[in-house]
This record gives sequence, C-alpha cells and structure tokens, in this order.
Amino acid sequence: MKATTIGLAVLILVVSGCKPKQESATSLNEMIWGQEGDRVINLYTLTNKNGMEVKITNFGGIITSVKVPDKNGAIENVVLGFDSLKTYQAGHPYFGSLVGRYGNRIAKGKFVLNDTTYTLAVNNGENHLHGGIKGFDKQVFSLDTAYSSRDSVVLALSYLSKDMEEGYPGNLMVKVRYVLTGNNEIKIGYEAETDKTTVLNLTNHSYFNLTGCRENVLNHEVVLLADSITPTDTTLIPTGVLAPVAGTPFDFTSAHAIGERIAEVPGGYDINYKLRNSSGHLVKATEVYEPVSGRVLETFTTQPGIQLYTGNFLDGSLTGFDRVRYEKYYGFCLETQHFPDSPNKPLFPTTVLRPGERYRHLTVYRFSVRP
Ligand code: GLA
Repeated sequence: MKATTIGLAVLILVVSGCKPKQESATSLNEMIWGQEGDRVINLYTLTNKNGMEVKITNFGGIITSVKVPDKNGAIENVVLGFDSLKTYQAGHPYFGSLVGRYGNRIAKGKFVLNDTTYTLAVNNGENHLHGGIKGFDKQVFSLDTAYSSRDSVVLALSYLSKDMEEGYPGNLMVKVRYVLTGNNEIKIGYEAETDKTTVLNLTNHSYFNLTGCRENVLNHEVVLLADSITPTDTTLIPTGVLAPVAGTPFDFTSAHAIGERIAEVPGGYDINYKLRNSSGHLVKATEVYEPVSGRVLETFTTQPGIQLYTGNFLDGSLTGFDRVRYEKYYGFCLETQHFPDSPNKPLFPTTVLRPGERYRHLTVYRFSVRP
C-alpha cells in the first residue's frame, strides 16, 4: 500500500514536472484557546500523514477531539467533547480528561500511609472520585515539548501537584506525553515522581463513540481480555474479592455488543476488570468494533486494570460538537488503571509511590477499520 502511494507520488511528479503537494505531511498547530485565571490555555492540533487529527488542550490535559477515517475513508470525530474552553470550564463528566491524582474511587475519602491517615474530599456520595474537587482534569498543564517528525507528532505536558493538594501528600511532578503515530495510534505515556510517599493512579477519561457520535454506543462490539472483575458495593467501592466473568453479562472474552446484555447490568457497565496480563509490559487489553462505520479501536496498556464505563450518567443535558445531545450510553470509556480503592485494599496491586521511585505507564489507543 505504502509502495503504491510512493509510486503514485513519483509518477505524478514525473508527469506534472513539479513538486507534489505535501497533503500527507504530519503537522502540529498551536492556538490560544482562552484563559484559566491568569494562565493562557492553548489548543494543540496534531495531524498525521493519514489525515488523522487529535486535539489536546493544556487545560486538564484534555483530548477534545479525535478524527479518524471510517471504512470508506470518511473522517469523523469519535470522542465526546466541546468546541469551546468555557464549556469545559463550566463542568463536565471528565470528557477526555487526564484524571489524577487518583483515578476512580477511594472509600470514604480516607487512606493510611506510614501510620498517617489522609482525608480527601468526598465528592461522589460518601466516596472520593477522580482526584477530588479540583483534580488534574481542571488544572493547567505546562508545555514541555511539541514537535512533529516525519512519522509522528509529539506533545508533552507537565504539572506540579503541590504537597497536600486535594489532601494528597507529596509534591508530585507529573509528565504526560501524547504521541500521534503514523499508524493511527494515540500513545499516552505517564511519568511521575514525588518527594513524599503518596498514592497515584493516572488515567485518560475519553468517551469514545466510533459511529462518529451519530448515535449511542450500544451496537459497538467489545472484546475485553479479562477473566475477572472487582465487584463493588452499591457505592461502587470494590468489595476486595475478584469475581470470574464467565457466564455473566460482564464476560467480553469473546465479542459482544455493549447493548446485548446491558439490561442485566443495573445502570449500565461501570466496573473495573482485572486484565489477563498484569506483567507491567504493554499488552493488548481490548478491541472494539463498530459495524456500520467499520471503525476499530484497540487498547494496549501496561496497567493491570481497566474501567469499562458506558456513559450511564449522561442524560442529554450536555450538548457537544455538531449540537449533538449526549444522552445515556452515548460514549464508552476504557480507563486503563490500577484497581479502585487500592490504597485501602492491601491485596490489590499497590498504588503507592515513594521518593526516588519513578511512576511510568503507557496506554495506546489504536484506530483502524475492517472492510
Ligand atoms: C468514572 C466512574 C463513573 C463515573 C464517571 C464520570 O468512569 O467509574 O462511575 O463517575 O467516571 O461520570
């Protein structure tokens, strides 16, 4: 395929005798999008040689839009989002956000580290959710690097979360690196270091909709390479045990449409899966296929878990791109993560980060099509 394209380009060059248009070059564009307090907020547009385009802002590290081709080459946006910064600032359920310090819930907003009890905001019923009142999703990140090379486009942001911000101990330096590759992948690399022992669980909260956000996601077919979930109590805190998915509506080890068994899951899917591979290496975790557009989204991650959330709390009150109202089940999230409430669950993989250690995780969202 590549050879054909190059061959064709050479042919056009020879026939026309002039330089061919660089329509397929990668690019990186920066524009001022608004302000948060006295900080300037930018919107970055990353485009690869296939015309795939990703927009990211330094407000909350949010991925605001992801445009990818369908099986006929039609390029459409496949994530929920807004075109104005003000709408994000007015509040939204973590659309595209970089979630931290602790993605997901911590029971009653309390945990103990080195005999000290830390108390966090209780912002989700009786629990702490997604980093608190002003989590990383509402913070202003600094630009570290931004460049495009022949094949990929890179945007690196950083944020210093001060000691006791939102109740968490330690000055925590967070770096996030977004790479749009020539293979239609968004790679999100996370790194962090602390000066006091703390807990950390970073994720991205994009709501995907491979139809091009034309209808809800119930027809998307999901494969999720996980044999067990961490079942929860009624406040969505894990009970601490693992439950096999076999024979339940949570079993996506072979392809099932999201809507096929959702009626058997009160409220919709909002559950953490223990991924099959917990080696810490980058391994495939999910594959989602949308039959009308032919679009496919694969997820690869170094994390041991993933939260499948099907936009259960969307209720049509938010209007996004193209005046589309985001109704219930209008997007699905694949939040790669450590397990919820790990700081209070000694048997779960640890989320403790100590001074001198480096937190490193990578998640890759790869887009393609089936004919
Ligand atoms: C996560 C949670 C959900 C919900 C959404 C945001 O995915 O697991 O319960 O809080 O964030 O609305």
